[in-house]
Amino acid sequence: MSVLVTGGAGYIGSHTVVELLNSGKDVVIIDNFSNSKPEVLDKIKEITGKDFKFYEIDYLDRKALEKVFEENKIDAVLNFAGYKAVGESVQKPIDYYTNNVSGALVLLDTMKKYEVKTFVFSSSATVYGDPEKVPITEECKTGGTTNPYGTSKLFIEQILKDIYTSDPTWNICILRYFNPVGAHQSGLIGEEPQGIPNNLMPYIVRVAKGTLKELSVFGNDYNTKDGTGVRDYIHVVDLAIGHIKALDKLEKERKGLFIYNLGTGNGYSVLDMVKSFEKATKKEVAYKIAPRRSGDIAACYADPKKAEEELGWKAKLGIDDMCRDSWNYIKEK
Ligand code: UD1
Repeated sequence: MSVLVTGGAGYIGSHTVVELLNSGKDVVIIDNFSNSKPEVLDKIKEITGKDFKFYEIDYLDRKALEKVFEENKIDAVLNFAGYKAVGESVQKPIDYYTNNVSGALVLLDTMKKYEVKTFVFSSSATVYGDPEKVPITEECKTGGTTNPYGTSKLFIEQILKDIYTSDPTWNICILRYFNPVGAHQSGLIGEEPQGIPNNLMPYIVRVAKGTLKELSVFGNDYNTKDGTGVRDYIHVVDLAIGHIKALDKLEKERKGLFIYNLGTGNGYSVLDMVKSFEKATKKEVAYKIAPRRSGDIAACYADPKKAEEELGWKAKLGIDDMCRDSWNYIKEK
């Protein structure tokens, strides 16, 4: 099976390419390095000992994309090419909708032209907005997103549902990620946010390293066990393996539209994360309590049962692995 991976040099894309190659799939990557580095491609080869085809193109460039489909026999597409910074999306909505939504449309239209109808989409738990209940099942109401990043995910999910209605020979899997953290055990690939990180784990590792002074804990008055926000952190390697299982499912079913939560089912508070990180790495994380961050919710964690039952997928790595691998990746840099 030959898989086209858009954004294959990025954080989740690169870890998924490793698992695709390890499972014997042929891989074609496209990436424009807007939020990744070319060295990542060499690291993937170092980890796997395997090669793949690469095109440095923007997936909005229809002509260039068509060339990729002309030159390769693609069986399935995994789409990781998307902007993902929540705060930035509020400042630059047109950029976000253009890159995420128009990019997905160009990709899907090109797939249609070349009769490639197997598609895995990287969605997010953000589509549940402020969830009606936790743990969150796939049947929970979606909507109420509070920023263009989240809304772009919601729009693309709707587009995929409409495409499937118009032509049920499509074979689509929507994966709703919870909070991806960690890095490959080799320490060769991981997450590298540009500038000051917005997300919790990248911030914690930089405080531990001394690059940032202290963590601001955004609110300790939520209705949670210790008052701080609760999330479902999932190791990026587990998440990557989820994509292989999704592809297996699509290969078996041949047509359909499937939606799965990819989370562990465990909720950890911000203070749990600080303590777990300190325990796993023996590094201290200075923090202070700060006001709530606008747009944040109290608690968000998955009911991962559907993915376990239908994909045979279950997160294996725990919070210690997540903290250790996040630290292992960043400490030497
Ligand atoms: C955020 C996005 C979500 C996106 C996800 C990707 C928002 C509102 N949501 O989720 O759409 O899919 O990233 O990973 O931004 N925290 C601190 N101090 C910090 C950073 C975070 O206390 O410096 C707290 C937050 O208040 C939250 C938890 O840590 O309770 C996790 O935050 P974060 O890593 O930013 O992820 P989410 O907000 O869950």
